[in-house]
Amino acid sequence: MKKVQINFFLASLILCGFIAALWFSHSAAAAEPPVPTKPSAAAASGDGTLFVAFVSVLRSPRCMNCHSKGDFPRQGDDGHPHTMNIRRGATGSGVTSVKCSTCHQDHNLDGAHLPPGAPGWRLPPPGMPMIWQGLTDAQLCESIKDPKQNRNRNVSQLVEHLTEDKLVMWGWNPGEGRTPVPIPHDEFSAKVKQWQAAGAPCPAN
Ligand code: HEC
Ligand code: HEC
Repeated sequence: MKKVQINFFLASLILCGFIAALWFSHSAAAAEPPVPTKPSAAAASGDGTLFVAFVSVLRSPRCMNCHSKGDFPRQGDDGHPHTMNIRRGATGSGVTSVKCSTCHQDHNLDGAHLPPGAPGWRLPPPGMPMIWQGLTDAQLCESIKDPKQNRNRNVSQLVEHLTEDKLVMWGWNPGEGRTPVPIPHDEFSAKVKQWQAAGAPCPAN
C-alpha cells in the first residue's frame, strides 16, 4: 500500500470508531428510564413519582418498627420482634403491667441498646394499626391518605404529621447505634410539600 492509502485507511478507521461511540452513547442514554427533572413535570403527569421520591423514609426500619404487622413493636435494622414479649395492648401503649413508658421516655437515653424515646412513644392502637409492611408504594400512599386508616387526617394534617410530629422527627435522631432515615429532614419536608402541592398523587398500582 502507498503511504497515502494507509493514511486514508487510518482516517476512515478513526471516523468509524467515532460514529460507533456516538451511536452507542446515544442508545445507552435512550435506554435510561425518563427521569423527571422538575417537580412540575411529574405533577403534570400525576403519576405518583412525587410520592416515590420520599417513600424510602417511610420504609426505613426507624418507621417500620412501629408500622409493621403483628401486635408488637420491632427493633433494629432487621425489624426483629421487640425483646421481652412487648405487646401492642388495648391502646398501643403496651399491656397494663408493661407500658412502653416503663422504659421509653420522651428522649433517647444515652448509650447503645438503651431505650430510644420521644414524646408519646407507643404503637398505633389495634383498631387502627397503621400497618404499612407488605404494601406496594401505591397501597402505602392510599393508606396514609385514607381518613379511615389515618385517624381522620386530611392531606394538610397528614403533611404536618409527616414533617413535624415528634415520633416521626425521632427518625432523624434515633439515638446511639441506630441508622437515621435515609433523606435529610429539610429535603424530605420539601419533597412531601411538593407532593402536597401537586394534589398528593399516588402511584398507579
Ligand atoms: C422493659 C423495657 C421496654 C418496654 C416495656 C418497651 N421497650 Fe421498646 N425498647 C426497649 C429497649 C431497651 C430498646 C433498645 C434495644 C436496642 O437498641 O438494642 C427498645 C427498642 C424499641 C424500638 C426499636 C427502635 C429501632 O428502630 O430500633 C421500638 C420501635 C420500641 N422499642 C417500641 C416499643 C413500644 C411501642 C413499646 C410499648 C408497646 C415498648 N417498646 C416497650 C425497652 C422496652
Ligand atoms: C414508636 C413508634 C412509632 C415510630 C418510631 C413511628 N411512628 Fe408513625 N405512628 C405511630 C403512632 C402511635 C401513630 C398514631 C398517632 C396518631 O394517630 O396521632 C403513628 C401515625 C403515623 C402516621 C399517620 C397515620 C398513617 O399511617 O397515615 C404517619 C404518616 C406516620 N406515623 C409516619 C411515621 C414516619 C414517617 C415514621 C418514621 C420517620 C414514623 N411514623 C415512626 C408510632 C410510630
